[in-house]
Amino acid sequence: MEQLKATGSRKHLEDSEFYLIIADLLESEEVQHLKQFRHHIMTTRFQHCLNVAYYQYRLCRLLGLDAVSAARAGLLHDFYFYDTYEYTHSRPEVRHSKHHPELALENARKHFALNEKECDMIRKHMFPMTAELPGCAETWLITLVDKYCAVLEFVLPQPKRLKDAVRNRRRARVN
Ligand SMILES: [Fe+2]
Ligand SMILES: [Fe+2]
Repeated sequence: MEQLKATGSRKHLEDSEFYLIIADLLESEEVQHLKQFRHHIMTTRFQHCLNVAYYQYRLCRLLGLDAVSAARAGLLHDFYFYDTYEYTHSRPEVRHSKHHPELALENARKHFALNEKECDMIRKHMFPMTAELPGCAETWLITLVDKYCAVLEFVLPQPKRLKDAVRNRRRARVN
């Protein structure tokens, strides 16, 4: 079975307190379905949501904030089911950065019970692309954690990509 880890962390997340907080969401068919979608070029939407949930949880815990809501909202903040590239190209009138937080919230509410803070975090995680100001400290943090994770997900696989490219070039020369 594949081990559950956040990008950039070696910690095995199964059996952790963090896992128990999000287990019901994580094990649902709908959240598992996020594995089918590529996200930020280098990862899946499932892995990205797990990353945001994990780092948002740790940061909020460190600061004495609502780490439980932070973890749950982190996992659901991009809870939508379309390929971003295809969708935005077929519907140029849709501003994805504004549209998907509302859609994620609508989808999340259909499947799970959410508290007010969780809704605020999901709805405004793209601030300042979304006009409304974050309503709590946890929402301010998720706007930063989301961007931090996007950078991490793109940068960390680059050395391996480079190595693979060099190896493939060498192979091509030999053949
Ligand atoms: Fe998002
Ligand atoms: Fe995100």
